[in-house]
Amino acid sequence: MATTFDFNKFRLRTFMNHLAEIGELETFDKPLALTDITAKIENSPKAVLFKNVGPQKYEMFAGFIGNRRRLAAAFGLADNKKVLPEYMRRLQNPQKWAEVPSADAPVHQVVLKGDDIDLTQLPFYLQHQLDGAPYISSAMDYTVNPADGKPNVGCRRLMLRSKKELRCNLTQMSDLKRIYVAATERHEKLPLSFVIGAHPLDFMSAAIKVPMDEFQLVATLRGETLPMVRGVTNNIPVPADAEMVLEGYLDELGYSEKEGPYGELYGYYGPMHDDPVFHVTAITMRKDMLNHTVLHGGPEIRRNDASLIGSLSSEARVWHTLKAAGFDITDVHCPESATGLHICRVSLKQKAEGEARRAIAELFKMPLMRLIYIVDPDVDVHSHEAMDWAQCTRFRGDRDIMTEGGHFALTMDPTIGSDGKMVKVGYDFTAPFDAPAKIENILTFAPTIKPAAAKQSIMEMLATGPKHFYQLMEAAGTTDGRGVTLELDVMRAAKTVGRTPDGLWCLANG
Ligand SMILES: Cc1cc2nc3c(=O)[nH]c(=O)nc-3n(C[C@H](O)[C@H](O)[C@H](O)COP(=O)(O)O)c2cc1C
Repeated sequence: MATTFDFNKFRLRTFMNHLAEIGELETFDKPLALTDITAKIENSPKAVLFKNVGPQKYEMFAGFIGNRRRLAAAFGLADNKKVLPEYMRRLQNPQKWAEVPSADAPVHQVVLKGDDIDLTQLPFYLQHQLDGAPYISSAMDYTVNPADGKPNVGCRRLMLRSKKELRCNLTQMSDLKRIYVAATERHEKLPLSFVIGAHPLDFMSAAIKVPMDEFQLVATLRGETLPMVRGVTNNIPVPADAEMVLEGYLDELGYSEKEGPYGELYGYYGPMHDDPVFHVTAITMRKDMLNHTVLHGGPEIRRNDASLIGSLSSEARVWHTLKAAGFDITDVHCPESATGLHICRVSLKQKAEGEARRAIAELFKMPLMRLIYIVDPDVDVHSHEAMDWAQCTRFRGDRDIMTEGGHFALTMDPTIGSDGKMVKVGYDFTAPFDAPAKIENILTFAPTIKPAAAKQSIMEMLATGPKHFYQLMEAAGTTDGRGVTLELDVMRAAKTVGRTPDGLWCLANG
């Protein structure tokens, strides 16, 4: 039986309209040059719709997952705190993909082939001042490994080369790199399609690593069957509800062209390197196609779409890693201001001395995670201020640091050594385990006084044992401690009152 699909449900434009409804979209109506838009995207706390960019008057959408609220919206949620459990829940419930005919696929409403292909009519633009050429930053590659028939999806930036060719950055180790290198060793082209403009969940699926059929992974994050249509020139399936697709192939010549420099996720430029060339054989799109770009690099790393994705997927991996190792963790945060990939803050309920250090050792094994902070459950891992406080009050530099070198790193990680490796550091910000129950180990908190209806004298109260001052106030039926102070002063003069080492009031001979 044929499945019917709502091709607008996961459409990028539908998501953009939803952001407008929840007050997360800023719209620019005025004409802007292509080079003007990076600064506007960086400076807006919202997602951005440009209605009139460049000579072609493009409609361009940016910043679709630039904060936690928009990340939650991508999952159909209004509460940021529910995102991590929902993300983990969806990954536990694999969904399928299904093929739809070309005639049904909105992304095949317009098909350009042969001399109608002209990439210079698409919004490639100089995104950072020192980039090597104009780029599109929002592309997702869909391919099928010719060696084993396994689908693969990733995010890859595209560097304009000519009307029909692009350079594609395949330097970092990835499944696509492995598939492509194997194809070149067989002297074969690799058919592949770039999707530009899709739902943020699709983009997220492309950026993360989960061991499953990656077309299914897109469906799985959507939470339902993914409609896919085969390319008109390369037969590669892509989501039928996408905005635009560049069909073609990576040629068999291998790493033959200089790609970069480009503003990278760390906020520094990534250097030029040798990379493959992609040849476009068709451009297909919706009639009312929405152009899409993502923010990459720049001073606002916390607003980079990739940082939000990195943050969520790292949090899930930290959660699974520590739970699987038997740790009782209560919260995890991987700050997007630090790419989401490298810093994690974990609140841990320690059951034994030294658990924080064991948790750090466990997380040292997690790829890319290199700055690990363990706190007690009373510290809010989402608050920079709370983390500062925990560091200031519970951390000693000569006792609470662990380091370990020689770990795999991204080639563009600015901290790598000459060996290309990174050093991992763990910080134990937890209070001493089983600290004695004395006053200086108790956190301060505001008084809440419940004056007793039936008053008692201070003498009667102290006869039942040492008391905090507030307990004497309650017994005296007052919320004002000054009268109680005077009564205690009379007892002090009469030598009938004393203090315990923790500062409780007691009978002098008690
Ligand atoms: C916005 C964005 C741009 C990216 N650009 C590239 C890129 O140009 N080249 C690359 O190798 N990885 C890039 N990545 C990372 C890959 O998409 C990611 O590692 C993915 O898991 C690779 O998929 P694969 O291993 O299935 O091929 C990018 C990620 C994001 C979020």
